[in-house]
Amino acid sequence: MAVSKNIKNLEGKKALVTGSGRGMGRCHALLLAERGAHVVVHDIDGDGVTETEKMIKKVGGKISTIIWDIRDVGGFKEMVSREGEIDILVNNAGVGGGGRKIEDIDLDVFNEMFEVHVRGSFFATQAVLPFMKRKKNGNIINISSIFAMGGHESISHYAGAKAAISGFTKSWAKELAPWRINVNAVAPGFVITDMTKASQTQQEMRQREKNVPLGRFCEPIDISYAVAWLASPEAKMITGQVISPNSGEVIVGY
Ligand SMILES: NC(=O)c1ccc[n+]([C@@H]2O[C@H](COP(=O)([O-])OP(=O)(O)OC[C@H]3O[C@@H](n4cnc5c(N)ncnc54)[C@H](O)[C@@H]3O)[C@@H](O)[C@H]2O)c1
Repeated sequence: MAVSKNIKNLEGKKALVTGSGRGMGRCHALLLAERGAHVVVHDIDGDGVTETEKMIKKVGGKISTIIWDIRDVGGFKEMVSREGEIDILVNNAGVGGGGRKIEDIDLDVFNEMFEVHVRGSFFATQAVLPFMKRKKNGNIINISSIFAMGGHESISHYAGAKAAISGFTKSWAKELAPWRINVNAVAPGFVITDMTKASQTQQEMRQREKNVPLGRFCEPIDISYAVAWLASPEAKMITGQVISPNSGEVIVGY
């Protein structure tokens, strides 16, 4: 993963990135660490956390780790509070589930989707708020999806969960503004990760990429740049917004 080495605008900040044991979360964690933040790497997958930890240490970053299932709300909140003050929260942990029609989505699949994305983001936010409110400063970045904006014909439980996250973003931005806590969402377009590889073949992905206006899908780092910018002082007057790096695949009015 190539990351920009020159900007150090997150020094003195502590950032929790949920689901950063692989994929885009790992890339966000690395970039935030490169920019000077102490990063709390979290995931259910311990090996993934160890790998991310190695990568961050290699670039001289500051790190601590939480290995926990985000669906276990009480335990997760306890682990987060042990970390102390969190200045930046990236609600990234997620599960995929493409290629499912409404009839193919049973209760367990539906519940996991909402427990990880919706409940997970909600209670991770609840866990960091006492510190942010005390400091009268904070930055929450929720990871949504273009499917929350334009829908999709075979992954409605995912699109619904991500739409809830957009609703959280706008509501929390209003509720938390008095404490100078900024809340925004990043809604990536299609990015090739283990999540998307599980539901589409290489051929299907390459076919789809041909129709993307900017000529290629985003790489994880393209999404991380949006996250790092929203976390930075440069974006301090941005709140309640959904920013969508998506190669021009979905262009909507907000
Ligand atoms: N890849 C895409 O095209 C795409 C597009 C739009 C949005 N997104 C979103 O971006 C985020 C990252 O996606 P990705 O493609 O990197 O996926 P990924 O599957 O590579 O990473 C998701 C991470 O979340 C972790 N996770 C899942 N369930 C968990 C749980 N119960 N507790 C703790 N950790 C858990 C996984 O172990 C994994 O490390 C997700 O929220 C996803 O919905 C992805």
